[in-house]
Parts: sequence; structure tokens; C-alpha cells
Amino acid sequence: MKTIKIGLLGCGTVGTGVIQVLEKNRHSITTKAGAILEITKILVRDINKKRDISEKINLTSNPNDILDDPEIEIVIEVMGGIDPAKEYILKALRQGKSVVTANKDLLATHGKELFEAASESRVDLRFEASVGGGIPIIGPLKDSLAGNEIQKVMGIINGTTNYILTKMKNENSEFSQVLAQAQKLGYAEADPTSDIEGLDAARKIAILASIAFNSRVTFSDVFSEGIAKITSKDIMYANELGYTIKLLGMAQQENGVIQVRVHPAFIPNNHPLANVNDVYNAIYVQGDAVGDAMFFGQGAGQLPTASAVIGDLIEIAKDLTKGVCDKTYCTCFEHKKVKPISEIKTKYYLRLTVTDRPGVLANIASVFANQEVSIASVVQKRKCDQVAEIVLITHEVKEANLQDALSIIKSLSSVIKVNNVIRVEGLLDGSGSDGE
Ligand code: NAP
Ligand code: HSE
Repeated sequence: MKTIKIGLLGCGTVGTGVIQVLEKNRHSITTKAGAILEITKILVRDINKKRDISEKINLTSNPNDILDDPEIEIVIEVMGGIDPAKEYILKALRQGKSVVTANKDLLATHGKELFEAASESRVDLRFEASVGGGIPIIGPLKDSLAGNEIQKVMGIINGTTNYILTKMKNENSEFSQVLAQAQKLGYAEADPTSDIEGLDAARKIAILASIAFNSRVTFSDVFSEGIAKITSKDIMYANELGYTIKLLGMAQQENGVIQVRVHPAFIPNNHPLANVNDVYNAIYVQGDAVGDAMFFGQGAGQLPTASAVIGDLIEIAKDLTKGVCDKTYCTCFEHKKVKPISEIKTKYYLRLTVTDRPGVLANIASVFANQEVSIASVVQKRKCDQVAEIVLITHEVKEANLQDALSIIKSLSSVIKVNNVIRVEGLLDGSGSDGE
């Protein structure tokens, strides 16, 4: 049986998981791949660090030991970041090596360049682990659902923020408290900016949108807003109104125009995504032939992510043993426009602190009416003497109109503070029914 030599770039959480799963399931992996898969060299920053791997595997801090080794046919990149990962992957592809990567940061910004390099060298570039950790979603979109025109891909694609929002809801705690807890437990990274600001999810939805709509969507095309502004009060009001707050990644196409965004959203409690909790991810896909399909599982973590990496590895090994190449070509053959956020229509939840006297609500309502913002429901709660809190849900309105109305409302003397503005998303059928 042929032995396929593999170079691993990175041996942290995911890299160690890849080694462990390859070892544990060696027999069935070898049989499925039709070849013995052998990691011969591993690139790390610090070769003296203590690691939980066999001492027989060669560690190196020189990338060229792997990239220039003619015996290595597949490179797995699990280092992360743009530089130097981009340079190493490009070099591997140009040297005729197929690549498996989990690197969404790189793909969401430089995907085009990487795919062109893979195509020129007639090798494969696979990236199932880059979105949704262990959840199969890239393969299903590229292969199993290829016969569909995909209208919508949306979901919970960041585990850290889902964990935080779930805890805030269940324990009635504030964002900063739960974030500190999540860091202590190792769920959130020491620098959690990319997760909580929605940037990690923005990269993932850019990758999914590109595949779903056959048109390149990059990280910079995605409007993103994070969860740091969500308070326990917003979660409480959401609950009273029949909603759950989730950080959603959403991509949709209508008449050849794409909208793609990441932000916290009220979703009705009967929406399947409302019940995806803790670090779990779920991705919902709507296609013209398949209808609705949903993918659920662990969106991060050592073994789930390794599972996706090894699935890609086996696919490439199968191709190498059969002499097939360049199977995972880029499918961005169209050039669709991306709608700016100001043009997007959605419903909104607004929470305002106002002075509690006659005419205040009427004033606010008239500002909204002038900007063509129609109000669906209002709840008013007295906070203390002369101060009240107003919670409004609007009907669907263009973002630009809502922002215009808000800037006038903020200037009203009776409005003490606009505490929060959160988008409200409808049900799966896109009918606009909103669970109120
Ligand atoms: P990690 O634990 O930080 O490991 C990174 C590894 O890469 C380390 O072994 C490090 O070496 C090595 N490395 C980093 N920069 C290097 C450089 N310039 N030269 C040589 N070696 C370098 O990262 P991870 O969590 O495994 O994530 C890896 C990739 O998978 C990232 O793209 C990430 O976004 C993606 N991903 C991760 C998860 C997850 O759950 N962790 C899920 C999905 C996707 P040292 O060990 O010597 O420091
Ligand atoms: N930090 C990501 C998350 C995992 O919390 O979902 C890596 O993609």
C-alpha cells in the first residue's frame, strides 16, 4: 500500500487533535484513504515546548524543511493567522502539494489568490474545518447541494459568543461577568476580540456566502456588529416578547444581489436556531430544490475540528491514490453585487430611557412616522419618578431610515438615552412573520 507523507504546519489545539485522531482511528482511516497517511514533519514556533505527541515525529521551526521536501505530498496548515501562513500555503501549492487548512482568517480575505495557485498547480485546497469546526458544511454546499440555487445561509457560527449569550440568559448575568468566566474555563481566548466583535463569524459567513452564491464575498464585504452591547435587561425583554438573542451570521441573495451580515438578533423562540445553546453551532441552508436543511454540532474544539481536517485529508489521499487531481476547484464564477447595510430591511427592537410625562411617546412616534418607521409594539415601564423605559419593536424598515429616525430621537430633550438597538429576524420562510 502506498504511503502518503504529510507535513503539518502547527501543532497547537487542532494540530495535536489531528495527530491523535489519525493514531486512534488509523486502521479505518488507512482503509478509507487507500493509503498509509504518515505525518513526517511538523512545523512549530518553539521546538523545545513540551507536547503530547510521539517523539518519533520530526519537529522543525524551519518551514522549508516541509515545503521543499519532495516526498511530502500533502500539507496541513493549522497555524492560524495571515502571515506567514499565506506565504507557506502558496509555496506548498506552487510546489505541487495539496493543502488542507482550517484558516478562515486567510480564506475570507485571500481565498481568490489561494484557489488560483491551487488551480495553476492542479492540486487540491480543502478547508472544511474553517467554518463550523466539526460540522460538515463546506462539503455539503460544494457537493451535495450543488444542484440547488441557494437563497439563504444563516446560523450560529461562533461558539464563544453562543456560550456567553446562553449563560447570560440562563443565569441572568451581565456580559463582562460571563466573558471572564468563559476565559477562565478556556472557552474564550485570552484575546476574545475577534469572537465577541463578530469578526470570526464575519469571516465564516464570507466563506459560506462565496460557496453558496458562486460569487466571491470577502471579509470586508460583511457588515459586523458584536455582542458586547447586549445586557441582561435586553435578554429579559426579549424573553418577555417571545424571543431569544443570538449572534447570527446571515447571507441571502435576491435577484442576483447578495446581503451578508453578522450581528446579534432577536429570533422567535420557536425558531430552530433559538434552541442551539452553549458552544454549539448550527447552520441553516435554504435551496430551491432541497428546501430547508440544517447542520448542527460542535463548532470548535480539538477533536471536532480535527475530524473535519482528517475528512479533507482522506479525500485528497483517495484522489492521489487514484491519480485524480484539482477536484476542489473554485466555484466563484459569477460577480454579484453586495448590498450595503443601509439598504437592508429588517425589524428592530429599541430600548429607550425617557422622561415620564405626557406627550413623550407621541413625540417619538411622530419622528418614526416622518422617517417611515412603523411601530409594531410598545411596552412602557416606569423606572422611578419621572423616568420610564420604553421598549419598541418596529415593522420592517430600511436601515438608513431607522438610523435617520434615531439621530433625531437622540436629540429630543425628553429622551435621556437610547440604550440599545437590536435587529429582529423573522421565521425561516422569509414571510416576515415575526412571532409577536
Ligand atoms: P494554536 O493552538 O494557537 O496552535 C498554533 C500552532 O501553530 C502552534 O503549534 C504554534 O507553534 C504554531 N505556529 C503559529 N505561528 C507559527 C509560526 N509563525 N511559525 C511556526 N509555527 C507557528 O491554534 P489552533 O487553535 O490549533 O488553531 C489553528 C487554526 O485552526 C487557526 O486557523 C484557527 O482559526 C483554526 N481553527 C481552530 C479551532 C479551534 O477550536 N481551536 C476551530 C476551527 C478552526 P508553538 O506550538 O510552538 O507555539
Ligand atoms: N473561536 C471560534 C469560536 C472557534 O468560538 O467559535 C474557532 O473557529
